[in-house]
Amino acid sequence: MCGIIGYIGDKKASEVLITGLSRLEYRGYDSAGIALMKNKDIFIYKAEGKLNNLVEVLKDKKNICDSSHIGIGHIRWATHGLPTTVNAHPHTCNCKSLTLVHNGIIENYQELKEELEKYGCKFVSQTDTEVAAHLIAHEYGKYKNLLKAMQAAVKKIQGAFAFCAIHKNEPDKIVVAKRNAPLVIGLGENENFIASDIPAIIEYTKKAIYLNDYQVGVVEKNSIEIYDDDGHLIQNKIEHLPFEAMSISKMGYKHFMLKEIHEQGDVVRNIISGKFVGSDKIQLENFKLTNNEINNISRIQIIACGTSLHAGMVGKYIIEKYAKIPVDVEASSEYIYRDTIADKNTLVIGISQSGETADTITAIKQVKAKGSHIVIITNRADSTMARLADSLLPVNAGIEVSVAATKSYMAQVISLYLLAIYLSEEKDLKEYKDEIKKLKKELVELPNKIEQLLENSKNIKEIAKKYSSYKNFIFIARGINYPSALEGALKLKEISYINATGYGAGELKHGPIAMLDENMPVLAILNTGVVYDKVLSNCEEAKARQAKLIGVTNYLANKDKALFDDLIMIPTVSDILSPALNIIALQLLAYYIAEYLGKDVDQPRNLAKSVTVE
Ligand code: AGP
Ligand code: GLU
Repeated sequence: MCGIIGYIGDKKASEVLITGLSRLEYRGYDSAGIALMKNKDIFIYKAEGKLNNLVEVLKDKKNICDSSHIGIGHIRWATHGLPTTVNAHPHTCNCKSLTLVHNGIIENYQELKEELEKYGCKFVSQTDTEVAAHLIAHEYGKYKNLLKAMQAAVKKIQGAFAFCAIHKNEPDKIVVAKRNAPLVIGLGENENFIASDIPAIIEYTKKAIYLNDYQVGVVEKNSIEIYDDDGHLIQNKIEHLPFEAMSISKMGYKHFMLKEIHEQGDVVRNIISGKFVGSDKIQLENFKLTNNEINNISRIQIIACGTSLHAGMVGKYIIEKYAKIPVDVEASSEYIYRDTIADKNTLVIGISQSGETADTITAIKQVKAKGSHIVIITNRADSTMARLADSLLPVNAGIEVSVAATKSYMAQVISLYLLAIYLSEEKDLKEYKDEIKKLKKELVELPNKIEQLLENSKNIKEIAKKYSSYKNFIFIARGINYPSALEGALKLKEISYINATGYGAGELKHGPIAMLDENMPVLAILNTGVVYDKVLSNCEEAKARQAKLIGVTNYLANKDKALFDDLIMIPTVSDILSPALNIIALQLLAYYIAEYLGKDVDQPRNLAKSVTVE
């Protein structure tokens, strides 16, 4: 699920592979490996842990590294089997003629394994991938041709995969295949590249072919052939990659996450730029529905995972308020396996930072087949999801390196504000005109407020230190900030491994209150607005159980201040736009706690930046 790279050309393959893997390293992974072809021999090197460990292994293999010009590489996010060296990719068959790297999950690997064992295949790892290596090798025995072996093997495999395979008997080619996992072939002069994502190859080429599901490709130094599912030779479009070589640099910040938190003012400026000028109405040129079609939308479904799901929950609140269309928000993984109701009058919004999240892609494909219009909000306009979109709303937040999403969440949330305003204006809902006018003004002022909050964040660092030894937290909020509580708790969990749970503040008394005592701090988000007094009462209830109370607020009456052990003040903002500021306080709190605890902030354990398996 983490990353694949392949190279064939005149360069030292090991260098291209290691550089490529290092460009994918930011996603977080657990082991790495490469296979180098030299004179019909394949040399495999693997290491557990960070890429540096593999680089160390390669140091005394200079002879092979300097003279091989074909190779495949992998960084692994283990789905089957521990993150050990033996489970690291590449994997191979009994006679080690065929070598393979794989992203994804082979769902029927047990059945295939039993079958292959009957033919004498010996398995050394616990991975599903090794089954594919043996299977392709077994098919090779029949066809004596790597392309044909791959074509036959993929027909027997269920699940998701991007494969890159090499074979000793055909030392001048890499054979690739994909289904529900990304794979791109980069085109060069007398060389070609393969990668699961563009950062791995962007410094070598700007021209690429995206492999589609069920296609198999043969990549040689001077040629690329793509075959469809029926084995017919086809032509895929050559695309220009919309990226500059990405300088993945921390710009002086200790971690990418801190840098990305600090970029959020500019992220907002960038998204709203040009949207409020030239007309009374907001301009969303990529939104493809006609006015008539918008008026016919009977419901909206938002589908996403994790942080993007929380952005969707903020979206529900604003769209229902300003566009008066009922909105359901659901985790993609839940949406897929039930009888969902959608038709051509259902607008479906898929939200994804990476645009490659398998659960969301599957859900989008399902609902697209029902005739619904698909809007995709993503930070990757080149992603699989972007290519499924009927209307694409790219958020252009810039590459997000830290595994924990921060600026991409901000970008998604702001895009949903713009979409809600757009739908309201297209429907000509006059009763919201004045409120929307105020909201637009506030959106324009938001970047400065974000920067003001960031500049005055010293006390968040102090509060983080004070609370870093607690093992559990509860985050509460109501209304439009309920998703902020969920997202703030998720951030803390992801990077500090502290157990934090977000609740609607009103739900506290229905169960979670049983857990409260002096060892369970409660963080409450309070904003001026209809739920202010209610959340305050919930804070009183928590205090009465001796919980330590941290308030995140844009306003607190003097008489109420004593209730709180600690306060994080955010700049003045309306309730409706407050999620955009509250979340920054919570991101910083999570960041400083994790940093104080010495955690690997940018690459938290067990997580991956793009989750390409269901
Ligand atoms: C964010 O901090 C997480 N790493 C995770 O919840 C993420 O939001 C989720 O996996 C969805 O990813 P996507 O936005 O790329 O679809
Ligand atoms: N399922 C494979 C494994 O566990 C591939 C995981 C990946 O995509 O990194 O090795």
